[in-house]
Amino acid sequence: MSASVVLHVFLLTFLFFSLEYYSMRVDKYLSEKKKLIEKKLDTLLPPESEYPEIIHRAMRYSVFAGGKRIRPILAIAGFEACGGKTLNRILPCACTIELIHTFSFIHDDLPCIDNDDYRRGKLTSHKVFGEAIAVLTGDALLNLSFEIIANTNLKVRTKVDILKEITKAIGTDGVLGGEVVDIISEGKKLDPEKLEYIHTKKTGALISASLKIGGLCAEASPKKLKALKDAGSKLGYAFQIVDDILDVEGDDSRVGKKTGKDAESGKITYPGLYGIEGSKSKVKELCSGAKGIFDRFGVKGEILKDITDFIGERTW
Ligand code: IPE
Ligand code: IPE
Ligand code: MG
Ligand code: MG
Ligand code: MG
Repeated sequence: MSASVVLHVFLLTFLFFSLEYYSMRVDKYLSEKKKLIEKKLDTLLPPESEYPEIIHRAMRYSVFAGGKRIRPILAIAGFEACGGKTLNRILPCACTIELIHTFSFIHDDLPCIDNDDYRRGKLTSHKVFGEAIAVLTGDALLNLSFEIIANTNLKVRTKVDILKEITKAIGTDGVLGGEVVDIISEGKKLDPEKLEYIHTKKTGALISASLKIGGLCAEASPKKLKALKDAGSKLGYAFQIVDDILDVEGDDSRVGKKTGKDAESGKITYPGLYGIEGSKSKVKELCSGAKGIFDRFGVKGEILKDITDFIGERTW
């Protein structure tokens, strides 16, 4: 064997084991943090036996139906990237982001919005509990999240900053604005500006806020907070483009919801405007932009780069 063949074999083996190592590292991080988040969520939600039982059952039904827990995990990773160590500082706030996310999809699935029957592989809240309870369950989860933040023992200033971040992200300049434009644009002309608005608001805003909240809990510098917010905007946009791609190419049982719905409802989506290949290359561009920003956090930002790859390549 020539020296060059040996070198090539060596390099390929090295590359293979490096990729394996990084993918194992992120899998381990995601599953460990998911466990911590779910344990904490269990302590934060009222028990099913508490009166009026039906709403507490409904809250727990949707929160514990499954899910990647990517937003609270990003909050934790953002916290750690900024030097945060005591996870108890970030965990309650990270969990509130999952509660808000759950509220947003319970309402998103309602017959008057996307009219979906399945979420996280199970029947949607309104299918099990009826529309009235589903609406109230969303409201209850949103309200509980503010109560949890107010009750943390973080500094008052930090709590106010977190509340400002979160309320802005859910408001009409965030998730709710994105949801409104998504709905009123159904069946209308595909418009690139509207598409960017919808995606960065309905999904990007909460993902970006998750990272920044991690930084706020770690009392990070304004420069680091801005970096987290900027990377989060790219990551959040990429996340929704992947969601659109999965609606075209995904497998119902893997994504846990009915695919093919966007085209059926005349939604403005990235694949609709730019095709699947155009969508995949935009995801790559956005993820590489986010990773470029995470580079500024040095070794502490490594896991954020791995999570970015996970988001770009996810199949569920
Ligand atoms: C689905 O979010 C709704 C969107 C904002 C695209 P996720 O893909 O994070 O859903 P879960 O939480 O893992 O179920
Ligand atoms: C929803 O976007 C974003 C939310 C605020 C929940 P989608 O409507 O595309 O999300 P899925 O496909 O139902 O999860
Ligand atoms: Mg929707
Ligand atoms: Mg939907
Ligand atoms: Mg979707």
